[in-house]
Amino acid sequence: MTLHSPGTALVTSLVEDATTAPSMHNAQPWRFLHRVAGDTIEVYADPARSMPRADPRHRALHLGVGAAVFNLRVGAAWRGWSASVRPLPDAENPWFLAEVTLRRATDPGESDDLAALRPALWRRHTSRHPFSDERIPDAILDRLRSAALLEGAHLLLPGPWHTDTLRGLVHDAELSEAMDAALRAEITNWTRLQDRRGDGPADGIPSYAFGPRQHGVSAPVRDFDMPRRVTGRSTADFEQRPQIVILGTADDRPLDWLRAGQAMQRVLLQATFDGLATSPISQPLEWPELRETARDPRSAMGFVQMLIRLGYGPVGEATPRRPVADVLNLV
Ligand SMILES: Cc1cc2nc3c(=O)[nH]c(=O)nc-3n(C[C@H](O)[C@H](O)[C@H](O)COP(=O)(O)O)c2cc1C
Repeated sequence: MTLHSPGTALVTSLVEDATTAPSMHNAQPWRFLHRVAGDTIEVYADPARSMPRADPRHRALHLGVGAAVFNLRVGAAWRGWSASVRPLPDAENPWFLAEVTLRRATDPGESDDLAALRPALWRRHTSRHPFSDERIPDAILDRLRSAALLEGAHLLLPGPWHTDTLRGLVHDAELSEAMDAALRAEITNWTRLQDRRGDGPADGIPSYAFGPRQHGVSAPVRDFDMPRRVTGRSTADFEQRPQIVILGTADDRPLDWLRAGQAMQRVLLQATFDGLATSPISQPLEWPELRETARDPRSAMGFVQMLIRLGYGPVGEATPRRPVADVLNLV
């Protein structure tokens, strides 16, 4: 280890922060590698944790790994280090998604904005609970728009007709899903019947995080119970006027997906910091024709990368994560 090496203890803590990231079906499709004398963390996608049916191009997988990379940056800033990201460093290896170089921060204030988000890392959980109809103040929405812009993405707040269209698209996606045996099998594979924390596998979505069953269909919330039906699950009325934001990028290449993942996580953490509950929605984006319709044709946003339902309500339950030793390779 040289004087400037971050050391394995720091790298281990940073990877622990990284793994709090959201990922499709909580598959946690990431691996990290640190060479002990060096100053980098290499971030790889784990293709064994991809969703061949719902995500054949690995777009969602890149978003999850991008979110983990953003967490590395937040964790580093909070500990007085700067983390610079080189995306897709190896043209020969499409699973090598980012190389993060760590340096002691020379200007202590340079990443205050990132460091301030660190407490939200551990508080953010996807909430599939009802939110209130209280409107989100413009000042908060402006901060969320800036968060996306800082990461090279755009955040759009759809008007009433567009929100209705998005609700309809989520519903259409649900119907298509119900008729697609391979997709249902994938969801069954990544969901767990599990009442309490700590007594199940370290990945997938446990049934305690499904949220209540919805009366009517006013809010776009994915029902992960769909393939099987958990007994004794409560039902609830959801908000009548859901607040959804659209995150998008100009292009649609792996580089854009990584960027979108970092932007998504910055928006989710900023929203958590500002007291909002959050819930990513990718259902309609898993069907190319529905994804295209999710765009606002009047906006310059080329490609929709994620929908996020926001509001005031319960934060959501913490879901399991694989231990750092299973995802970090020290060589
Ligand atoms: C690319 C991507 C797509 C997702 N799609 C959905 C979705 O359609 N519906 C949903 O309820 N959650 C969705 N999520 C949230 C994940 O289910 C959630 O992150 C995961 O179960 C881990 O839980 P956590 O966010 O509470 O840490 C998505 C997350 C990502 C990164």
